[in-house]
Amino acid sequence: MVGVAVIGTGYWGRNHIRAYKELEKEGMVKKVKICDVNEDQAKKMSNTYKVEYVFDFDALLGDPEIKAVNIVTPSPTHFEVVKKFMEAGKDVLVEKPVTMSSAEAKELIEIADRTKRILMAGHIFRYHPAVKELKRRIELGELGEVKMLFTNRFFFGLPRKDMGVVYALGIHELDLFCYLLDREFPHSLTAVTNHTFKNGIEETAFLALDFGEATGYALESWLVPVYGKKRDLVVIGSEKCAFVDYLNLQELTLFEARILTDNAVPVRVEDEGRQSIPLTYAEPLKEELKHFLACVKQRSKPLTDGEVGWRAVLMAEKALESSRTGQRIIFNHQTIKDGEVNV
Ligand SMILES: NC(=O)c1ccc[n+]([C@@H]2O[C@H](COP(=O)([O-])OP(=O)(O)OC[C@H]3O[C@@H](n4cnc5c(N)ncnc54)[C@H](O)[C@@H]3O)[C@@H](O)[C@H]2O)c1
Repeated sequence: MVGVAVIGTGYWGRNHIRAYKELEKEGMVKKVKICDVNEDQAKKMSNTYKVEYVFDFDALLGDPEIKAVNIVTPSPTHFEVVKKFMEAGKDVLVEKPVTMSSAEAKELIEIADRTKRILMAGHIFRYHPAVKELKRRIELGELGEVKMLFTNRFFFGLPRKDMGVVYALGIHELDLFCYLLDREFPHSLTAVTNHTFKNGIEETAFLALDFGEATGYALESWLVPVYGKKRDLVVIGSEKCAFVDYLNLQELTLFEARILTDNAVPVRVEDEGRQSIPLTYAEPLKEELKHFLACVKQRSKPLTDGEVGWRAVLMAEKALESSRTGQRIIFNHQTIKDGEVNV
């Protein structure tokens, strides 16, 4: 059992604290400490969750009671904070996006290698029960050949100040589409974004990923009051289709629907209806933290390691470049290795 700390206790950090406190009760964590530069916020969270707090994370760098830290500060601060904790010998789980630039993400991977620290990226949707079940069934071949994936992520609210929808939301799809198709990158990526408020923060993005045999589309926006909070995934396979409502942790829906062909020409629709797969409830964040603790204990590579975080940031970076230049970005193996991607 290890002592852990949560750095950044705002909107999302408080969920990390709550989940760790539950894991503490379940005997998986020894101690939980927190840090927030905002004194009032740190005190409030300390009172709510009965945990020790500090205002300056430097106070935790040499703390022998803390072995692992979760970085849940605003994304532009991740690089400096993660670097300091790894250099101080702590294992780190950092929220997505791991950094705001792919060069910084690469540097963090190098530091993790040199210091032999665990570096894990908080790509939470990989720990979602429906995504886990879907991935398992895709690997078993149950969906046939995956032809298309698409996601709609809508919300109505003030855009974030520190990053736009590509880094805040689209980064999930950039990772998940590759993960579900067992690929590191798409062949190419095209993005269109919209800056309604002219403050440089895009609040709507359309991402199109071409994987050759499959294509992935994501529409992300903070401007849509029509559906409430909406975030779902449809996967179209040659044999079956799948639907995941990310807000429903206990169901995966499969559609026994396919288009039959004759010599590769579509001739008939076959639709045998839908099948609901009930899933055991599991909170994705708690699953993610449990995985992190297991990696810390066993010194094993996380499912969402630094490389996964780096690839997602590189794709997000290139998506913004595509929207700026109006060009399609080609991911070619040699150029990815050299840190450059073709346009
Ligand atoms: N995985 C997810 O689904 C998910 C959801 C929301 C946010 N996030 C990520 O979590 C991170 C935080 O987002 P948020 O919405 O909670 O932001 P937030 O602004 O609500 O909270 C950030 C907190 O960090 C504190 N902070 C800033 N600099 C600090 C420092 N140097 N040391 C200690 N504390 C510091 C701030 O005072 C604030 O309380 C972002 O990287 C975001 O992308 C992930």
